[in-house]
Amino acid sequence: MPVSEKLIKRLKAAFHVVVASGAGISAASGVPTFRGKDGLWNKFKPQDLANMNAFLEDPALVWEWYRWRRNIIKNVKPNAGHYALVEMEQYFPEFSVITQNVDNLHQSAGTKNITELHGNIMRDKCINCTYECDETETNAAQFENNVPRCPQCGSLLRPGVVWFGEMLPQTAIARGQSLAAEAEIFFSIGTSSLVEPAASLPYIAKGNGALLVEINPEETPLSSIVDQRFASEADEILPKLAMLVRKVRKRIENH
Ligand code: OAD
Ligand code: ZN
Repeated sequence: MPVSEKLIKRLKAAFHVVVASGAGISAASGVPTFRGKDGLWNKFKPQDLANMNAFLEDPALVWEWYRWRRNIIKNVKPNAGHYALVEMEQYFPEFSVITQNVDNLHQSAGTKNITELHGNIMRDKCINCTYECDETETNAAQFENNVPRCPQCGSLLRPGVVWFGEMLPQTAIARGQSLAAEAEIFFSIGTSSLVEPAASLPYIAKGNGALLVEINPEETPLSSIVDQRFASEADEILPKLAMLVRKVRKRIENH
């Protein structure tokens, strides 16, 4: 794992480190990515399912797809990549993970400071009112034709994720942008760097002086501008980076 002098120097001195993660960090846990060689989109067409029109046309079908994905997620565990980030968090005064993932695996691993840009697949929310809940709180009595209904207003409940054509939660994207602007090191891990506005975060970071690091076995549109690229799988490279961090820094006691 050749690590540049520049990165080692930053790892030694940085106050604020930001990680932006995508589906690739969960690949080793057995959660399919969207794009890429084993991507979901080779088998399905999520853009046809993950949007409001498709949902209104056939909510039962869209729910069936999400239940299938929930079941995968309920049966997987965080991998060495997620755990390495939990360890790294203890060595920097500010350490934040901004994720496009809806799979809850950073949370299960124990990362504390997480910004979810695309929501969380384990949540339900109403298409009409502000009602939101954990999927476990939606009970059998609320279902009509396999589709759950809002206990407050009777409208359809939908998965608590961001769909094509929808805005990201305003507070999450604003937080992501301000974290990116403050980062001294910005890691882009396991994302195809194609989907906006998440794809712009590393540019904000670099524009504000961050050192950019990419971890992805495949090249992305970001690859040509990063300061260091690890063309490896996240679960392989992150534990090595965490070990390096342990060597060059002292643990922050109040973490
Ligand atoms: P993608 O599926 O677009 O990209 C996954 C990336 O992970 C690819 O670039 C792979 O090369 C890389 N990869 C695969 N295995 C890896 C591993 N073991 N370690 C590191 N990298 C690996 O996933 P995202 O970029 O997260 O949004 O997709 C962004 C958004 O597209 C998703 O959040 C989803 C979709 O539209 C919504 O649903 C709103
Ligand atoms: Zn409602």
